[in-house]
Amino acid sequence: MEKNKDSIILGIESSCDDTSASVIKNGMLLSNVVANQSVHHQYGGVVPELASRAHQENIVPVIDVAIKNAKIELTELTAIAFTRGPGLLGSLLVGTSFAKSLSLSLDIPLIDVHHMKAHIHAHFIQENNIEKKAPEFPFMCLTVSGGHTQIVYVKSPLEMEVIGTTIDDAVGEAFDKAGKIIGLGYPAGPLIDHHAKKGDSTKYNFTYPKAGQLNYSFSGLKTQFLNFINKEKIHNANFIDEELNNICASYQSHLIKYLLKNFEKALALYPCKDLAIAGGVSANSELRLQLKKLGEKLNCNIHVPKMEFCTDNAAMIAMSGYFLEKEGLFTGLDATPSARIPM
Ligand code: KG4
Ligand code: ZN
Repeated sequence: MEKNKDSIILGIESSCDDTSASVIKNGMLLSNVVANQSVHHQYGGVVPELASRAHQENIVPVIDVAIKNAKIELTELTAIAFTRGPGLLGSLLVGTSFAKSLSLSLDIPLIDVHHMKAHIHAHFIQENNIEKKAPEFPFMCLTVSGGHTQIVYVKSPLEMEVIGTTIDDAVGEAFDKAGKIIGLGYPAGPLIDHHAKKGDSTKYNFTYPKAGQLNYSFSGLKTQFLNFINKEKIHNANFIDEELNNICASYQSHLIKYLLKNFEKALALYPCKDLAIAGGVSANSELRLQLKKLGEKLNCNIHVPKMEFCTDNAAMIAMSGYFLEKEGLFTGLDATPSARIPM
């Protein structure tokens, strides 16, 4: 890209069950539109085939509104950034195919984006009239979503090292699956967060699974939770109804302590002045509170994304696109989506 030329990027996100489009000009947000898919609620989880069909229905209107809200013409775009993975293959295919055809018709470059790196790039989105201090490099980011749980050492916008990860389920799944066991809707993370605010987090105890130095394991916790609920229900059939807030508070507090226990260990090995969280679970109020306390204890600056940039959104994809465009890192029309892509 020519120096001094404006960068105007359209970001397209379709990795799971949110269809989103966003326009970012020189790192500044012009629009961000997200269409959620309510069709999955009745199934207690995302149904991949239904997700890709809903993306097909939503993608044209979502992009149309994003362009209109940004008050630009399609012809002003300098590049199109899309999520190539990780995610659900059928869902990724919709965004990838659309991005390719639009780049071909506008004759502008394509940029393929890694969804989990983009969650971290969400910290760099600038908005008009909102003062936002981006993290300083190197910083440590706890990236927590429905599909991933990672401790990432971020050396520069494009240099990231995963130093801890889950060996099985993601922490978002640990929230969602526990929620299903106690009859909460999907996604259960925000609902557990809501009930936990009214409960006693010290009432019930769980143990920490072992997964090695900085890694996590959540599948055992889900079983531990199921066994605990079944055992209590033998004595009291109304246990869930009567104890819902305390159950949520105790389980949530345990998950957050586990997350931050390894995060703190990582910081001892890789000291950083700036700490960040990213991904859907970073919307959790207890995680935000405990991170703030950790920042105070370690005398570090903390960075928490704005709510709309925690869960899946295309603004973070456009932001990744902005960093990649600066380095001339484009992709070709032969780009293929991938369900799994290493960082
Ligand atoms: O990043 P995201 O939107 O999608 C993926 O890339 O997976 O994350 C979705 C996950 C879900 O598991 C959802 O339950 C969780 O984020 N989540 C929360 C909260 N808000 C969303 N978990 C705990 N507390 C919340 N407030
Ligand atoms: Zn995500």
